[in-house]
Amino acid sequence: MPEKTTISVIKCDVGSLAGHHTVPKPLLEIGEECLRKAEKEGIINSHYVFHAGDDLELLMIHERGESNREIHKLAWDTFQKAAKKARDLKLYGAGQDLLKTAFSGNVRGMGPGVAEMEIEERGSDPIVIFAADKTEPGAFNYPMFRIFADPTNTAGLIIDPDMAGGFKFEVLDSIKNKKITLKCPEEMYELIALIGSPSRYIVAHVRRARDNLICASTSTTKLSLIAGKYVGKDDPVAIVRAQHGLPALGETLVPFMHSYFVEGWMRGSHWGPLMPVGLKDSKCTAFDGPPRMVALGLQIAHGKIASDDHGNPLISDLFDDPAFDLARREAVEYAVTLRRMGEFEPARLGSNIMEYTTLPKLLERLKDKFKPA
Ligand code: F6R
Ligand code: MG
Ligand code: MG
Repeated sequence: MPEKTTISVIKCDVGSLAGHHTVPKPLLEIGEECLRKAEKEGIINSHYVFHAGDDLELLMIHERGESNREIHKLAWDTFQKAAKKARDLKLYGAGQDLLKTAFSGNVRGMGPGVAEMEIEERGSDPIVIFAADKTEPGAFNYPMFRIFADPTNTAGLIIDPDMAGGFKFEVLDSIKNKKITLKCPEEMYELIALIGSPSRYIVAHVRRARDNLICASTSTTKLSLIAGKYVGKDDPVAIVRAQHGLPALGETLVPFMHSYFVEGWMRGSHWGPLMPVGLKDSKCTAFDGPPRMVALGLQIAHGKIASDDHGNPLISDLFDDPAFDLARREAVEYAVTLRRMGEFEPARLGSNIMEYTTLPKLLERLKDKFKPA
């Protein structure tokens, strides 16, 4: 029987240093301590703690399946502890994403973002974990389309017979809370019709069409829809499997050789250029950005992250590479161009999306000043 292993990435903005900028070491240490203890107690098999800008990211490998109470409780308790430390240090936005007080079995709907994937381990299972800051889950729509449906991106779609049947995309309508599955190449135009609007339609899962093999899973949390008001952007995470009848690692990274535009950035209210960065640059600066993404490469082996002889997980910081210098440079150039436009669309998001920001408060104040025209 193939081994069943679950990859859970659960993330939360528990408070950050110098504004909504970066997660400082004391909070990362709390994450590390809690997960190391859970590993000793046998709750998880292995882990890696990192951050994307101001979001604390917990990568946990275990055998308990998706939406498991113990795993979600572990993440929730870890975030609570880190938020307490953030409060003690008077860090900024301490406990920002912890929107509910009592844990009720699953962190979905409570503020933290979750991407999970239960896999039957293949002979060798290369995985990429993507994590972004100052943007929203729909930010993965464009790269997911390119990786799993665009033959100009993924040569394997044309020349690898194992990929011949294409891939199925499960798309969430985040407004109506309904999902639809569309198969590429046959339904590619319909897919683009939906996911071309990333603030509403979000690619949640991708599966290989011929055998339903799970290939990608993203977080789909919409904080504003939980809280009923603006509480920051949703800063998404995604898990992607690569190689051997799936897009190669290199094919999963090609979409990031150029910058592209995502919603979020300053006050969750602007279009911004996505900048792929190594972990050392995983911190938001100019205009609280530009929106950044990190990518970690690893192997799943016997229910764990493949590790060295001392038990340290082997992790490759994929965007820490000159191949992404052009995208970073483009991101800076696009950022400067957009910022020249100030608060005028299309630099600022359209008014329908601004309803989910702090703008309605201002409109409320102006309401009585409007007279019939
Ligand atoms: C965007 C974000 C930041 C803040 C901005 C204002 O997701 O977190 O851009 O919206 O720094 O923050 P406050 O209102 O906390 O001063
Ligand atoms: Mg923050
Ligand atoms: Mg964030």
